[in-house]
Amino acid sequence: MIENRPHFATRLGVIATTVGSAVGLGNIWRFPYEAGANGGGAFLLIYIACIVVIGIPVVCAEFVMGRASRRNIFGAFRTLAPRGGRWWSAVGVLGITGSTLILAFYSVVAGWTAEYFVQSVCGSLADVASGERRAAFDSFTGGWRCVMWTLVILGLNCLIVLGGVRKGIERVSNLLMPLLFVLLLTLALNSLLLPGAADGLAFLFRPDFSTVDSGVILSALGQAFFSLSLGLGTMMIYASYFSHRTPLLKSAATTAGLDTMVALIAGVIIFPAVFTFGAEPAAGPKLVFEVLPDIFRMMPAGAVWSTLFFLLLLLASLTSTISMSEISVAYFCEQWGMSRRKAVAVNTSVAVVLGTLCALSFGPLSDLQICGMTVFNLFDCVASNIIMPLGGMLISIFSGWVLSRNVLQAELSPIPRALLRALTFSLRYIAPGAIAVIFIAY
Ligand code: PHE
Repeated sequence: MIENRPHFATRLGVIATTVGSAVGLGNIWRFPYEAGANGGGAFLLIYIACIVVIGIPVVCAEFVMGRASRRNIFGAFRTLAPRGGRWWSAVGVLGITGSTLILAFYSVVAGWTAEYFVQSVCGSLADVASGERRAAFDSFTGGWRCVMWTLVILGLNCLIVLGGVRKGIERVSNLLMPLLFVLLLTLALNSLLLPGAADGLAFLFRPDFSTVDSGVILSALGQAFFSLSLGLGTMMIYASYFSHRTPLLKSAATTAGLDTMVALIAGVIIFPAVFTFGAEPAAGPKLVFEVLPDIFRMMPAGAVWSTLFFLLLLLASLTSTISMSEISVAYFCEQWGMSRRKAVAVNTSVAVVLGTLCALSFGPLSDLQICGMTVFNLFDCVASNIIMPLGGMLISIFSGWVLSRNVLQAELSPIPRALLRALTFSLRYIAPGAIAVIFIAY
């Protein structure tokens, strides 16, 4: 099975798929509101430090484990750990569970973007008056239309993943990622021409360290993890499809660099508009769904910009959901011997049930509270705040302490000695230590 395992066909495929997984709602929806709520420029600098010092080493660890084993996360621990990795493969179960939970709630938010895209095209988004924006959002998310969109997203996701590694995932990513960059740059250029551009950019780029406290640092690290899709085996499964010639460190740095660039461009799109139209930069998660539509309404040709923006968000979400699905699909195929079709059917069926529960938790199921949270919030909290950091910590401990140094060196080569040392140091001490801190502080 391992010998005829698929490979990504080109170097573009490698970058488009990994960046496609990393770039998503995390960059365009979550990053701007986190930056807005945590003081802008100072948050940005700390975020970049987290990406370089912790993010890139953990991406490298996932890449090394994926390519050295040519397996899904469960199989990778089984293959690489001494004595059959019985205990370590539990990290695999954790990753598969986490990616399933994320797929469920992420599809709901992706569904919102689909609705906003359609409303932008039809012009009905602009018909809602400013004061009614919140009520309109609540009535949409509380209704069955929101469930319908969640199912549409899962259906599209199913079709792409069914197409396989090369014809589905790689082909769609190769097509969507360049399109995404064109859309991003067009929207950014438009924002830079707004009268409030200078204030918006100053907010995003001028660091004011007086606002920094431990909460800001923890949010930056959490954001770095979510944005780079770390700790679940996403980068691991994609690396298992790399050819042996793909340079891992360079690919990790490119993925992290482009992912950060997209988050920055998303900030450049949103903050000039926020400052031009007097909105609140610290509006939180509703920044994109409640504040931006009002801003688009006031802009010349606002319907065009809003259509492009929500299309961008939709495409970026899809290239992320396929990577979440591939974690479980590869697991079912490789560990249980299922056909790809059957594995996709199982993955989609579970996601349909859980995704529907998440979608309904804004309406009919809003009273269903588990540990004081709705199903949507519970899945988000368990996956993003517990499973991702825990998985990331265990993956770095495994690659730093358990995995043979020779495997690490062989997969990463050619790599300068000093860089290998720095990377190993981060995997052994800095990454697990820092993650342990966010973990405890959450
Ligand atoms: N990195 C994606 C984003 O920024 C989210 C994601 C998390 C994707 C986990 C895959 C796995 O939106």
